[in-house]
Amino acid sequence: MSVITISDQEFTQFQHFIYEAAGITLSPAKKALVSGRLSKRLQHCRVNSYGEYFRLLTSGDASDEVQTAVDLLTTNETYFFREQKHFDFLREQALAARKRTQAFRVWSAASSTGEEGYSIAMVLADCLADAPWEVIGTDISTRVLQKARIGHYPAERAKLIPPAYLKRFCLKGTGPQQGTLLIERSLRNRMRFMQANLNTSLPQLGLFDVIFLRNVMIYFNGDTKRQVVARVLSLLKPDGYFCIGHSESLNDITDAVQLVAPSIYRKA
Ligand SMILES: C[S@@+](CC[C@H](N)C(=O)[O-])C[C@H]1O[C@@H](n2cnc3c(N)ncnc32)[C@H](O)[C@@H]1O
Repeated sequence: MSVITISDQEFTQFQHFIYEAAGITLSPAKKALVSGRLSKRLQHCRVNSYGEYFRLLTSGDASDEVQTAVDLLTTNETYFFREQKHFDFLREQALAARKRTQAFRVWSAASSTGEEGYSIAMVLADCLADAPWEVIGTDISTRVLQKARIGHYPAERAKLIPPAYLKRFCLKGTGPQQGTLLIERSLRNRMRFMQANLNTSLPQLGLFDVIFLRNVMIYFNGDTKRQVVARVLSLLKPDGYFCIGHSESLNDITDAVQLVAPSIYRKA
């Protein structure tokens, strides 16, 4: 079987496609990534070129295939307790909220396969005990959201889960499930995962005490970042906290929040 190559013009079409769909800017260096990730879909859809696949996506008749292409073109790398300082900070905030009657609400705004949301939920379950709390995870990719809801992971992704949390909130796979872990049912049942595209108007999620928007802005250009951050911050309570990835920055993006610790901001 001959290998189908992607031309520069076809690559440009996919750059536009994912920019329109998700606000993601793909540099020219991503040409091989695009052709590699989509090649199986050409076979599946029985088309003979990337251009033909692009026409299918933009025909208006293939919404499931559009979602599949978005799923494939997003990068979903994540792990539990990534960037530990944010979880130490969350712990302090949750402990300070213990006496509150109103639910303490946290949003994992690009939750990928759910490790970030479950890490947040473990901290809140530990610190807030019977006080009300809620964690919502959202992502543009339905494929990662499905995985998040199931909560079943390769064990190596859990290296940074504190041992006490591992014992309390995770079931260790045995037999054919060896080398995996399953998030314990009661914690899984408390999480809500739903689709939200940060690049369009957001669903009604209510207001949050803390928002995690981590390791997704790196894929956006300046204008998209400004729009996404404004949209996301409109759901943060006054005095609420906003956590971004350690390699990301809000320079020239917003003045609605003030830096209180590295990569942690408070809404004015
Ligand atoms: C690298 S993961 C980051 C996961 C997690 N926040 C972390 O820091 O480990 C980036 C996630 O952003 C999601 N994403 C990309 N563009 C998006 C958009 N426009 N709206 C919502 N999610 C988006 C991707 O699907 C992916 O799951």
